[in-house]
Amino acid sequence: MRNNIPLREANTLGGVYRGPSRQDGGGSILKMFARRPLAAVFLFLGGIAHAEEIGDAERGEKIFRECAGCHEVGQGAKNRIGPQLNGIFGRKAASVGDDFFYSKGLQRAANDGLLWDLEHLDAYLENPKALVSGTRMSFRGLKDPQDRHDVLAYLRRFSDNPANIPEAEPTQLPAEVELPPEILAIVGDPEYGEYLASECQTCHQRDGSDQGIPAITRWPVEDFEIAMHAYKKKIRPHPVMQMMAGRLTDEEIATLAAYFKDLE
Ligand code: HEC
Ligand code: HEC
Repeated sequence: MRNNIPLREANTLGGVYRGPSRQDGGGSILKMFARRPLAAVFLFLGGIAHAEEIGDAERGEKIFRECAGCHEVGQGAKNRIGPQLNGIFGRKAASVGDDFFYSKGLQRAANDGLLWDLEHLDAYLENPKALVSGTRMSFRGLKDPQDRHDVLAYLRRFSDNPANIPEAEPTQLPAEVELPPEILAIVGDPEYGEYLASECQTCHQRDGSDQGIPAITRWPVEDFEIAMHAYKKKIRPHPVMQMMAGRLTDEEIATLAAYFKDLE
């Protein structure tokens, strides 16, 4: 349900956005819907074309000790604090069965279509909360890409049908959401923020209440920016938010982050 905005509404939303600093007018929202499937196909083919080892599985087995306090993998693996990780490649998020209690955040991402492929596993392990806000996995993340690739190579051994799973060379992993200091340093103009935010507030409640759509007021600026860039880079799955964030410049995202942080 949440993914469907009626066409008429979509048009109005686009219209609100015509500001002094942007060329694209109202209709662009619809064109972007039309372009999406193609982009998805390219990503997929790109993955297959570079089928290579992900990383060093032997080393990954050692790194998995950091996960093993919460997760089991292999024959007879059970759900513990975290779900068992057999067949994780290609598995739908939050789908291990009824006997594991997932967070609302991960369930929401699953409803948006989050599938555990290499790209999304990598982003989740780097910073679980950047990919899935409200996730219950309290793990600080593996900052070193090599560590992530190695542990993923290890987990890959326990996934059912390796031949069908597209892989990419570690060096060809898509850029993760890691914001350079220049971006984080941008400070927004509150008046422009108010103007930009009017569109967001057709869905997100100004008073911060959560009515099926999450509240976005009073977030730390950095968390807000990371979430928006994760949509922009299509690492977070929600199509409407991908489209909203995709049309914003880095400055505009910073402006919005500052505006919503201070909203009473
Ligand atoms: C402190 C405990 C803890 C640690 C350490 C931890 N996890 Fe998790 N993990 C969880 C919990 C709890 C969840 C369920 C998250 C939710 O419901 O939001 C989870 C979820 C996951 C998922 C999604 C599974 C699904 O069914 O959708 C993956 C993949 C994952 N963890 C991999 C790892 C890996 C790999 C490591 C080590 C690098 C790790 N985790 C470290 C607790 C942990
Ligand atoms: C058409 C309705 C709609 C509009 C317009 C909209 N959003 Fe959203 N937004 C959503 C929905 C639905 C979600 C939950 C998406 C998900 O499941 O990841 C969301 C999620 C978010 C999140 C992440 C919240 C979380 O808890 O992780 C942020 C941040 C956000 N939106 C900011 C914005 C900003 C800034 C704008 C304006 C530029 C905007 N949104 C416009 C519907 C909308």
